[in-house]
Amino acid sequence: MGKSNFSLILTLALMAVGSTSERKCELSGLWRNDLGSLMEIYAVNSTGEFSGEYLTSVTATSSCILRSPLKGAQHSTQQRAQPVFGFTVNWENFSNSTTVFVGQCFVDEKRKEILRTMWLLREHVGSLGDNWRATRVGTNIFTRKRNLVRGKILHDHAPSCGTPVPAAQ
Ligand code: BTN
Repeated sequence: MGKSNFSLILTLALMAVGSTSERKCELSGLWRNDLGSLMEIYAVNSTGEFSGEYLTSVTATSSCILRSPLKGAQHSTQQRAQPVFGFTVNWENFSNSTTVFVGQCFVDEKRKEILRTMWLLREHVGSLGDNWRATRVGTNIFTRKRNLVRGKILHDHAPSCGTPVPAAQ
């Protein structure tokens, strides 16, 4: 093998190794977590703020699950390729609770993005005496899902909660 070919292969190999940690992790898009919940994050703006929608697969209530709005902020990917972030999901349209998530967006050794998060869920309780039981804690791992049309997958997966209207006679 010629000297120049060898140099070229070496350069390409070094670039491939380097790019694993260099690949930027962007939050916008569709994500699914280990519980099967879906989350769509719309565009992240220039100051790192974002909004989106969450469709949880589980609930501590007996209500029909509805899509819920989320709002958050991530650190700049100019500073660090694998940014930390936080967001809040307001479940108010079917529950009396709110969840805050914090986490970091990583790129794994197969160049796949993965969100490692921890959350606190605060539910409403009727009195100060019940405050002790108002908070749950847990973790979730999210991986990216392909999404071609904004909002479509969350819309298609959301259960229809209304009582069916009887057909007119
Ligand atoms: C509720 O049951 O009061 C609202 C839904 C809460 C869903 C929680 S939030 C943390 C965990 N991760 C999910 O994807 N769903 C549950």
